[in-house]
Amino acid sequence: MRIVLLGPPGAGKGTQAKLMHERIGAPHISTGDLLRAAVAGHSELGVAAQGYMQRGELVPDPVVIGMIDERLQQNGANPSFMLDGFPRTVTQAEALQAFLDGRHIPLDHVVSLQVPRDELIRRLSGRRTCGQCGAMYHISSEPSRVPGVCDRCGGALLQRDDDREETIRARLEVYDRSTAPLAAFYDARGLLREIDGTGSAPQVLERIMARIDGRA
Ligand code: AP5
Repeated sequence: MRIVLLGPPGAGKGTQAKLMHERIGAPHISTGDLLRAAVAGHSELGVAAQGYMQRGELVPDPVVIGMIDERLQQNGANPSFMLDGFPRTVTQAEALQAFLDGRHIPLDHVVSLQVPRDELIRRLSGRRTCGQCGAMYHISSEPSRVPGVCDRCGGALLQRDDDREETIRARLEVYDRSTAPLAAFYDARGLLREIDGTGSAPQVLERIMARIDGRA
């Protein structure tokens, strides 16, 4: 199964990709996670990406396309995947299409999560992530048992640099300008599945599964 998860920052793409991975097994590939790992490792890619990410801007297309191409090639000739955070521009979507066409394999679904703006801001400003194992929490809707401490591994919970209010607003503007047009791109290809992303994460998962299983 090959799925793209589309949606603004905070829509729940990463949360749903993890839950879907448990259900259908396709690897979860997050460009945000790959880029944050590159920044933390001070690689050439990380140095190139860091400033853009801190400002809430998109990392240039050639950098991200090269990175994802390399990552997808690791999955063999007939890769299955759930892409979270890619594509984010029409140029990236065309590059993904060229990758798939070159292997004669289709994209199955583009799941577009719909969440009102005030809820996106609430989710992002309350998100905390474990610096050690990457587990994700929300200070009010999914708090850890001990504030600031990961339930799973005892690591410290951190706020992402780009989850400060000013950067959140910049990311949402970038989404409206550069990524929202992808809905029309995929709708024209019959792949767009718009899903209500409000309610609990398990409720959203059930809506997605019903749609991709053809039950809704
Ligand atoms: P990236 O890491 O992809 O960030 P994003 O798209 O802004 O998405 P988020 O991770 O913030 O949100 P999400 O939708 O995954 O929500 P989540 O599940 O975490 O990208 C970061 C940066 O990297 C970009 O700004 C850019 O600079 C660069 N970049 C990445 N990809 C790029 C590309 N392709 N091209 C160029 N640059 C790129 O949930 C958020 C919070 O909400 C959590 O606390 C969670 O617990 C909570 N939550 C989730 N679901 C629910 C629910 N149903 N109810 C209540 N709370 C919920």
